[in-house]
Amino acid sequence: MPNGKLTRLPGLADIHVHLRVPGGEHKEDFSTGTAAAIAGGFTTVLAMPNTSPPLATRETLQAIQQQAQAAALCDVHFYAGASPDHLDELPVLAQETVGLKIYADQTYGPLRIGNLATLLRCFQTWPRGKPIAMHAEGRAVAIGIGLAAAFEQRVHLCHVSRADEIALIAAAKARGLPVTCEVTPHHLFLTEADAARLGPFGDMRPRLATSADVDALWAHIDTTIDCISTDHAPHTRAEKLGPDAPPGVPGLETALPLLLTAVAEGRLTLERLIALMAHNPRRIFGLPEQPETWIEVDLDAAYTLSDEGLHTKCGWSPFSGMAVRGKVEHVKLHGALIFENGVFIHSTKRTRS
Ligand code: DOR
Ligand code: ZN
Ligand code: ZN
Repeated sequence: MPNGKLTRLPGLADIHVHLRVPGGEHKEDFSTGTAAAIAGGFTTVLAMPNTSPPLATRETLQAIQQQAQAAALCDVHFYAGASPDHLDELPVLAQETVGLKIYADQTYGPLRIGNLATLLRCFQTWPRGKPIAMHAEGRAVAIGIGLAAAFEQRVHLCHVSRADEIALIAAAKARGLPVTCEVTPHHLFLTEADAARLGPFGDMRPRLATSADVDALWAHIDTTIDCISTDHAPHTRAEKLGPDAPPGVPGLETALPLLLTAVAEGRLTLERLIALMAHNPRRIFGLPEQPETWIEVDLDAAYTLSDEGLHTKCGWSPFSGMAVRGKVEHVKLHGALIFENGVFIHSTKRTRS
C-alpha cells in the first residue's frame, strides 16, 4: 500500500522498446512486454523492427499489428525497418509507422545498412518530416548528422552513450540541424565497472562506458538530450549464460524509479523528467494524445530494485540490488484504471499502428 502522497504524471512514452514479436516470443511478447511497460509507468511504447522476420514489409507489419491488437495492454506503435531487400516497401510502410529505423554500423542481421548507396536510397525514399531513427555509434553519429543536414530530414539518434557523441550532437543542434537524441537509463546509471561485475547481464550495444562519459551525458540532461528511452532488449537467462550471449538488457520496469531517484537527489527536476519521458517523445514522433490517461507515483517510496515480481518475460534486471526512491502505484489508460497499488486489476487491449 502506498504510504506517501501520490503525484500524478502524464502516461510516459518509451520510444525504444524491443517486444520480440515475431520470432523472439521466448524472450518477450506483447502481453508480457506491455505489462512491463504499464508497471513502469509507460502507456505508449514504440516497438523496434529487428524481429524475425524483420518488420520491413507490409505483410509482416499487418500480421504484427493484429497480434498487438489482441494482446497489448498499452498503446503500441511500430517503426519500419530499413532492409536492403525491401526498400520499395518504404513509402507504404511510412503510412502506418512512426518512423524508419536504420541500423547504420553494427551487424544486426538483415537490417544492417552497410553501404552509402543504400543509406542514400533510404533517405531519398522515406517521406520528409517523418523521423528516421538511427542506431549509430561513434563515427556513425556523424554520418547521421550529415544525412540530416544534406536531406533536411529529421534524424533521431538512438541511445547516445559517449562524451564525444553528445558533444557532436550539441554542435549540430547549435547549427540548427534537424537532429534529436535519446539516452538510456543504463548509460546514465551504469559504467564499464558495472559491465565487469554483471558480465553478460551488463552487455548491450552501445556498451556501458566510462564514468567520464556518464558525467558528460548528465551534463547535457537539461539541454542536448531530448528523450530518455529504455532500449528494453530482453534475452533469457539461458541465452545470457550460453555461448555467444546476445547483447541487450531489459529496462521498462526500472527506468522511472531510477529517474525519480535522480530527481530526489536533485540531478534533474521532475518537470524535466516529464519532458524527457512524456512530452518530447510524443512531440518528436507525432504520437496521438491519450485522453483520460495518467500515472500516479509515490515519490517517497524507498526500496531496492529486484528480479522478484518483474513482468518482463526475461525475469532479470541489470539494476537489481540498487536502492531507489519512487514507485508507480496507479495507471489509468483511456479511462480505465488498469494498475492499482502496483497490481493489474483490469485488462484492456489497446493498440494503434
Ligand atoms: O544491445 C542491444 N540489443 N542493442 C541493439 O541495438 C539491439 C538490441 C537487441 O535487439 O537485443
Ligand atoms: Zn540500437
Ligand atoms: Zn534497441
